[in-house]
Amino acid sequence: MASLTGKVALVTGGARGMGAAEARLFVASGAAVMIGDVLHEEGRALAAELGDAARYVALDVSSPDAWARAVAEVQAWQKRLDILVNNAGLINRTGIADTPLDRWNALLAVNLTGAFLGMQAAAPLMREGGGGSIVNIASLAGFTGHTDPAYTSSKWALRGLTRTAAMEFVGDRIRVNTVCPGLILTELTAHSPHVQPLVDMVPMQRPGTMEEVARLVRFLASDDASYITGEDHLVDGGFTAGAAYRRVAQETAALTRNA
Ligand SMILES: NC(=O)c1ccc[n+]([C@@H]2O[C@H](COP(=O)([O-])OP(=O)(O)OC[C@H]3O[C@@H](n4cnc5c(N)ncnc54)[C@H](O)[C@@H]3O)[C@@H](O)[C@H]2O)c1
Repeated sequence: MASLTGKVALVTGGARGMGAAEARLFVASGAAVMIGDVLHEEGRALAAELGDAARYVALDVSSPDAWARAVAEVQAWQKRLDILVNNAGLINRTGIADTPLDRWNALLAVNLTGAFLGMQAAAPLMREGGGGSIVNIASLAGFTGHTDPAYTSSKWALRGLTRTAAMEFVGDRIRVNTVCPGLILTELTAHSPHVQPLVDMVPMQRPGTMEEVARLVRFLASDDASYITGEDHLVDGGFTAGAAYRRVAQETAALTRNA
């Protein structure tokens, strides 16, 4: 198990879902965790549940001022920052024809600009402490054409931003990677009509769990990943490896059997 003993982390969108799973696992692995979110009640409740090793800060990731306050709170609390997880994210579930400009902009402001602002705000404190690890939560949708154009664009762009950041910060000993989950059951996906058809396509024939994603994030955040930067890390039950071709092969075999 990758240890985070002595490390200080800031997890955005940490009040629920995968961010909360990461906060829980990080604390269990020895880290102090600042949970940032716009869901204040849930965030405070989680921090209280995790005890002295966790705190909650109101953090709308699309606001540079909120970022400055959040990083200042981490500094006042622990004097350092080793890990930043840019996990906060939204989905629209509308196509190009029916996505109003304000919804497009609002999504990019969180999923993409939020990570940019986060790295801008957090890097100086990480650098001061001798380096660290940034994990940007992208998606399987960053490898394909998801039905939501703003979501897809934000996740593809986050992969590019991650590479740029990895090069800019390499001399500061700050590593930057993405984690790209496939289908994970959270509030984000709970009401999607795509869940069952997607599960049917996933080679492992099930959704992933939040903990399976959190364990990969913990590894990349830890010193065990000391030579890994600027890279994407899929956790998708084999989907990107060839789910479509696997389906074709299965259907062809069925046709041959029935011929
Ligand atoms: N669930 C999946 O299948 C899946 C797959 C791939 C990628 N992802 C990504 O994983 C991340 C976490 O998603 P989740 O599935 O846990 O969903 P979720 O909706 O449970 O969690 C998202 C969190 O982000 C927070 N958030 C939203 N806007 C914010 C803002 N402006 N500032 C700060 N926090 C904000 C929400 O309050 C929430 O706590 C997202 O980036 C999402 O795109 C999810």
